[in-house]
Order: sequence, then structure tokens, then C-alpha cells
Amino acid sequence: MIKLTPSLLAADLMHLGRDIDMMRRHGLDQLHFDVMDAHFVPNLSFGPDFLRAIGRQHPDMKTDVHLMMDNPDQYLHEFAKCGASSITVHAEIGGDLCGMIRTIQGLNVKAGLSVKPETPVDALLPYLKQLDLILIMTVEPGFGGQKFMPEEVEKIRFLRKSGFHGDIAVDGGVSIENAALLRDAGTTLLVMGTSYFRAEDPSAVARYVEELNR
Ligand code: DX5
Ligand code: ZN
Repeated sequence: MIKLTPSLLAADLMHLGRDIDMMRRHGLDQLHFDVMDAHFVPNLSFGPDFLRAIGRQHPDMKTDVHLMMDNPDQYLHEFAKCGASSITVHAEIGGDLCGMIRTIQGLNVKAGLSVKPETPVDALLPYLKQLDLILIMTVEPGFGGQKFMPEEVEKIRFLRKSGFHGDIAVDGGVSIENAALLRDAGTTLLVMGTSYFRAEDPSAVARYVEELNR
């Protein structure tokens, strides 16, 4: 089963409520929520209060929080309290990743780990049994609208061959051009920013991904 999770970063910042309502009308029940700290990546985005406000409007919608931060451990409780369904941290930050995964799961939130393109997939291997979700970056994190890196798809195949049965999300330059390839490699969550929210016909993109399950 493959699912489209639109990335809020590419929504119209002056009409976020309208854009979220649109994705709900397209039958989509999961939103990708990017958090950037201007250190781990050279950009800033959304914080926990904003996640809480979204949850108040859409209590039945799942929110996948992608923490592009150097010190996510200081914010895990806050994002869980504000309604995150899953929280993903980056393997590159090092430290006690096992402990962070346990903390997230202890808050009744699904735990994810992500790797940037330059990071070997091996960095994930010690955590496969613990993780609910792996997020493969197919662009350098920090900005939407970049070009998909096809060489990263091998990481997904490798993770499935290694016996990982949890969700595999792919983030960066994902579109209907590469969605079938990603499904065949073992992806279950397609994060789409630009190619959904800025599409000429976003409903057609949602229908296309739905059809990939038939
Ligand atoms: C980038 C973010 C992505 C971003 C993807 O660092 O993690 O979620 O919104 O945007 P697109 O789909 O436009 O590449
Ligand atoms: Zn993201």
C-alpha cells in the first residue's frame, strides 16, 4: 500500500488552511510537517504551536513531523504534545539515537530515522528492529522544489532486502514521474511538496497515487 503525504512547505503560506482542506477533499489523511532549525539545514520553517493549530482544525488527520534539527531530543515531548503521529529525526546528528527512538515511542508516537543523500544506508542498520518508519531523502534537505536524485532509490531496495517491514517514506523531488519506480522499490509513503500543492491539478496527482495500489 502506497500513500501520498503532501508536504506543507510547498502549500500557499497565505492560504494554508485552504490548502489543507483541499488535500482532505482529495481523500488524503496524512500531512508531512517539516521543522528546520537554521543549523542542521540552512532554513527555518514551522514550530510546535503551528502543529497544534493544525491538529485543532483536523483532529483526525495524521501529521508526520520531520525534524531537520541538531537537537531534536529537546523538542520530542513538545511535538508529541502538539499532536505528532510520527516523529523522524536525522541519523547524522549522532548521539543516543536508540534512546531518542525509545523516547518517541514512549510518547505513543511512531519513530522514524532519516538519512541525507550523502549518508550511507548502513547508518540505519542498527535501528531497523526498533523503527516504525525510515525517511529516505532524495534531495539535500532544507528546501522544496529540488531535483530528485534517482541513485538514492537503491537504499530503499537494500532496506527491504535487509528485512525492514516498517514504512519507508521518500522525501525530495517526488512526483508522478518517479512514483511507480519508488513503489516498486518498496516505498509506502510518498512525500510530495511542489508536485502536489503546486500542480496544475492536485486532485489528479492524488488519484494517480491511489491508482498505484490497484
Ligand atoms: C526538504 C523537505 C521536504 C520538502 C520536499 O528538505 O524535507 O519535505 O518539502 O519538497 P519537494 O516535494 O518540493 O521536493
Ligand atoms: Zn521533509
